Amino acid sequence: MTIDIIVGTQWGDEGKGKITDLLAKEKDLVVRYQGGNNAGHTVVVGEDVFKLHLIPSGILFPETICVIGNGVVVDPEVLLSEIEALQARGIKVTPANLKISSSAHIILPEHKERDKQQEESRAEGQKIGTTGRGIGPAYVDKINRSGLRMEAFLRPEANSKRLGSLTALASRIAPYFIDSIEYINEAVRQKKNILLEGAQGTMLDVDHGTYPFVTSSNPTAGGACTGSGIGPTKIDKVLGVVKAYTTRVGEGPFPTELNDATGELLRQQGKEFGTTTGRPRRCGWFDAVVVRHAVMVNSITDLVITKLDVLDDLDSIKLCTAYELNGKKITHLPGDLELLKGCKPIYEDVPGWKAPTTNIKKYKDLPAKAKSYLKKLEKAVGVKITIISTGARRSETIKVK
Ligand code: GDP
Ligand code: IMO
Ligand code: MG
Repeated sequence: MTIDIIVGTQWGDEGKGKITDLLAKEKDLVVRYQGGNNAGHTVVVGEDVFKLHLIPSGILFPETICVIGNGVVVDPEVLLSEIEALQARGIKVTPANLKISSSAHIILPEHKERDKQQEESRAEGQKIGTTGRGIGPAYVDKINRSGLRMEAFLRPEANSKRLGSLTALASRIAPYFIDSIEYINEAVRQKKNILLEGAQGTMLDVDHGTYPFVTSSNPTAGGACTGSGIGPTKIDKVLGVVKAYTTRVGEGPFPTELNDATGELLRQQGKEFGTTTGRPRRCGWFDAVVVRHAVMVNSITDLVITKLDVLDDLDSIKLCTAYELNGKKITHLPGDLELLKGCKPIYEDVPGWKAPTTNIKKYKDLPAKAKSYLKKLEKAVGVKITIISTGARRSETIKVK
């Protein structure tokens, strides 16, 4: 039995969906533990593209049970339309393979309104660039103890005032409900294989990210425990998903950002446009300071590198190993945002390999210079790489021995 966590090490969109799907075949349970439909997780199988927002990325395997954990905030309309869209494509989604924690909080229409109003009222420079999905206000109400949990749908009449138009959805949603804490821990007792799927990334964590330019939950490994009800001593591995470069959607500091032709090249080659909002993603070089911070706050045991192929055409690549702050070299991420804003990346130049890596299945078949880039990255971060992704498709993956 193994209980592993998939966590984003950067600002989200690292390819967590692809990696979750890749590993899900061997899993009994895949559990989403935080966030909501601000997430957009892409899974590509052959020519079929699936963009998942709330449903765990294990859903393509009918024998794998997917759980939306207590830590998630759920927009009931989005949930039902996602279920129906998958069913319409012939994917099995029934109460047998999709289970929803009755303790998860509901995103109400008023939360979405508040999210948009707050964003509009923020002054220039203070805008966060939220996805507008009501995530922040739903978590605010949860922490304020004034939120509504999914269990409200079990007593629709009593809760009709707050549920409003959502009341009508009760009979369609309730069949998926479980007492997830008992259910998940029974799977733990039965020594099942469990994968905990994070949304967003470490740098968007409300505690460990670039506050206030963050999301309103804990995407980090601690959030996986809280958001699923599994205690930390049961966790075997924490897999940190790392894009071979860096991207960010929305506002906030990004030391290795490239506002030039190379940034544009990464955006085009990497198809860096948001899965949820379609916004162009900001692109930049790989930042080992950021990923070392992620390794630290998540206790990451394995690195999963994605989108290596996006760098295939570059003549030379830069890898940020440290920052310069007020004339001094620092190797850690400063907690104070004002200090982070003053940090200038210190780069190591690495020659490009100028050869396709897409579809390579074995580590030994990678170009020597690509291996060299990976070695430098591994050394700068200090954790072993165990999976390398060289394309969006499930099959475009190297498992490192
Ligand atoms: P997530 O939010 O972490 O699940 O990531 P997204 O799905 O939002 O963004 C990752 C994007 O990169 C998606 O379009 C994936 O299909 C794609 N992708 C994932 N891995 C690779 C890879 O190794 N190479 C390429 N070219 N694309 C990838
Ligand atoms: P996945 O799971 C990238 C960003 C938003 C915004 C900030 C706060 O696909 O990696 P929110 O709506 O959560 O209050 O917005 O967080 N953001 C993401 N960026 N990937 C995501 O999810 C994100 N979810 C939220 O762009 O900057
Ligand atoms: Mg995404």
